Amino acid sequence: MKGKVTVHREFSIGEVDKRIYGSFIEHLGRAVYGGIYEPGHPEADEAGFRKDVIGLVRELGVPIVRYPGGNFVSGYNWEDGIGRVDNRPVRQDLAWMTLEPNKMGTNEFVQWARRAGTDVMMAVNLGTRGPDAARNLVEYCNFPQGTAWSDRRRNHGFAAPHNIKLWCLGNEMDGPWQICHRTATEYGRIAAEAAKVMKWTDPSIELVACGSSNSRMPTFGSWESEVLDHVYDYADYVSLHLYFDNRDNDTPNFLGKSLEMDSFIKTVTGICDLAKARKRSKKTVHLSFDEWNVWFHSNDADKAIEKWTVAPPQLEDIYTMEDALVVGCMLITLLKNADRVKVACLAQLVNVIAPIMTETGGKAWRQSIFYPFMHASQYGRGTVLRCPVRVDAYDSREYTDIPYLETVAVHDEAGEALTIFAVNRNLTESLALEAGIHGFEGYRFIEHSTLHNPDLQAVNSAGKETVRPERAAPGTLDGGTLRATLPPASWNVIRLGKPRS
Ligand code: AHR
Repeated sequence: MKGKVTVHREFSIGEVDKRIYGSFIEHLGRAVYGGIYEPGHPEADEAGFRKDVIGLVRELGVPIVRYPGGNFVSGYNWEDGIGRVDNRPVRQDLAWMTLEPNKMGTNEFVQWARRAGTDVMMAVNLGTRGPDAARNLVEYCNFPQGTAWSDRRRNHGFAAPHNIKLWCLGNEMDGPWQICHRTATEYGRIAAEAAKVMKWTDPSIELVACGSSNSRMPTFGSWESEVLDHVYDYADYVSLHLYFDNRDNDTPNFLGKSLEMDSFIKTVTGICDLAKARKRSKKTVHLSFDEWNVWFHSNDADKAIEKWTVAPPQLEDIYTMEDALVVGCMLITLLKNADRVKVACLAQLVNVIAPIMTETGGKAWRQSIFYPFMHASQYGRGTVLRCPVRVDAYDSREYTDIPYLETVAVHDEAGEALTIFAVNRNLTESLALEAGIHGFEGYRFIEHSTLHNPDLQAVNSAGKETVRPERAAPGTLDGGTLRATLPPASWNVIRLGKPRS
C-alpha cells in the first residue's frame, strides 16, 4: 500500500501547548498508595515517593498532572489532607467504594510534582462542596501570607505559595455516577460562582469548566451550551473526556475510533464559538481534553474487588500493541487540533489505566502505551503542520472513510527539527510513505523509530518489554522527497533535521 503526504512549512495549524502532554493522578486504586507513594519501598525517598516511578515520569515527559480526581474529587474534603499526617481522618470514598487514609494530600502532591519535574492542575470539589471550599483552597495554595489559610500552609512547612495556575471546576458533573451529580443549570450556576471567587482570590489562575463526560452522553451538546451560558466570562477552557475500548474484539473498528475523538473536538469547538457569538465576546474559550485513553481490560476484574479497602488494584488495564496504536492515533488527533486543544491529560499516570505500572515492593515498568506518549512529548514540540494525505481508506462497523495512514508533522523551528508521527492502520500490509517536504532546505533524514509487533495482543510486564520501539530501516530524503516504509499496524516517528556542526 502507498501513502502520499505533503508537508509544507507554511501549513501551520498552531503552536503546541506543552500542556497537551499532561497526565492525571487520582486517589484511586494504586495510583497514589503503592504507585507514586510507597514508604518502605527500597526506591522510596525520605518523603516516601518512589524514585523509580519519578524516573519513569520524567522519561515519559509530563509537564502537568491533574489531581486529586476524577470522581474522587466530588466527595473530597481537601482539609483532610493537610497538617500532621498522623492526625488525618480515614474516610469512605463513595466514588470508588474504598477507604481513603489521607496520608497524601495537597502539600505532598505538590512536593511530589516538583520532584517529578511537573506542574499541578488542581481540581476542586463541586459535588458535595462548593465556592467556599474552592476559594479557601486557592487561598491556601496561592496566597503568599497573612491570611488564615495562607498562614496555615506556612505553618505546614510551605513558606512559598504553591502557585498552582490551572484549576478544574469539578469533575464530570453531567454524569449520574458523580457524587452530587448536577443538571447543566445547577452546575453552570455553581461553577460560575466558584470561578468568580476563585479568580478574585487569585486573578492569575486559569479555569476549566466541565464539559460532557463523553460524546455519547444524552446531554452532550446541550450541556456545554447551557454551562457556557453561565461560565463563559470566567472559564478559560471547557473539558472533554473520552475512553475507547475494543470489547467487541474488532480491531479495524477500534483503530478508527480516533475519528470520533476528532469530531468530538470539532463539535465542542463549534459550541464554544457559538457561545462566544451569543455573548458578543472577544474572548475565545479553548479545550482541555483532560481525560483520554483506552480503558476496558480491567472492567470485569474490578467487579470482584472487595469494598472499603485501602488502595485495591482497581482499573489496572494491561495494554496491548493495538492499544498503543489507538493511543498513537489519539495523540495525532490532539496535535491536529493544537489550535484549540491547549491542555490534555492521559488518564491516568501510574497503575490506574496507566503507562507506568508498579509491583508493590517490586519493580516499576513501562506499558505499551508509554512509548507513543513519550515520543510525542519528546519530539512533538513546536508548530503543528497540517499534512494533506492521499491514501486508501476503509469502512468499519461504526465509521466510514478511515484512512489507512494517520499522520501529522511538528516543526521545531529553534531546534531545526521536523518530526512526522504516523500510524499505519493496515493490519497486513506495510505502507510505502512518500512525503513531499517543502520549505526545509538543508534538512536531512535522521531517524525512523517504529513500534510494532505482529501479535497485536502482545503486552509488557515487569519482567519483559515485548512491545518497545526499534529503529526501522533508514528512510531517504532526496530532492525534497522523503521515502520510508511503515510496517503493518505500526506507530512511527520519522525525524528530519539540519545537521549540527
Ligand atoms: O479516570 C477514571 C475515571 O474516569 C475518573 O475518575 C472519572 O472522571 C472518569 O469517569
